[in-house]
Amino acid sequence: MIGEVEILNMSREDLEEVCFIERRTFPSPWSRGVFENELAKAGGTRTGATIYLVAKIPGRVVGYTGLFQVGDEGHITNLAVDFKYRRKGIGTLLVLSLIESATRRGIKRLTLEVRKPNLVAQEFYRKFGFREVGLRKGYYSDTGEDAVVMWIGDITSEDCLKRLEGLREELREKRRKS
Ligand SMILES: CC(C)(COP(=O)(O)OP(=O)(O)OC[C@H]1O[C@@H](n2cnc3c(N)ncnc32)[C@H](O)[C@@H]1OP(=O)(O)O)[C@@H](O)C(=O)NCCC(=O)NCCS
Repeated sequence: MIGEVEILNMSREDLEEVCFIERRTFPSPWSRGVFENELAKAGGTRTGATIYLVAKIPGRVVGYTGLFQVGDEGHITNLAVDFKYRRKGIGTLLVLSLIESATRRGIKRLTLEVRKPNLVAQEFYRKFGFREVGLRKGYYSDTGEDAVVMWIGDITSEDCLKRLEGLREELREKRRKS
């Protein structure tokens, strides 16, 4: 299964499937218009530029992620894998690919916010070296939930590169077994 997954830049043609997953995943899903605005800013290496990626198996989108760039910082905005396809390494493949693209664009530090009760995502992000650095009280207006702020200080550090290589090796192992 994971062997069939391809990571590509997100295009407007993907948005119907992306929005379908988005609606099934999040309590306040982004609209198609928000994704279109984000895609319009894709490319470039300056503040405000974005990177959006999709994970595809033959014939369909199964996950996506993205970030926007502020100088040498990348703010991860979104990450989802469709229910049926979780726990197969696709989220890991997406984030590894996002980090690779981010590094090519001169990004060194990464940050994101995650809902405090979303322990699965926090555990997932910790595997990449993200650490909790703070809490934004009542950040999510739809539910009043707090946001946990997570950071990786330097994605080009030896420590981080070693950790990411370890995750790539785990994926290769999953591929061999699938
Ligand atoms: C978070 C998410 C993207 C992970 O995607 P995924 O494709 O299932 O992730 P992977 O298969 O690459 O999992 C990597 C590791 O993360 C951890 N993990 C993932 N899902 C987990 C779960 N349900 N319970 C415990 N650990 C989990 C495990 O350590 C896993 O490694 P393992 O399967 O070898 O044990 C997916 O669960 C999702 O779409 N969740 C809803 C949306 C969301 O929370 N997005 C993040 C908001 S900021």
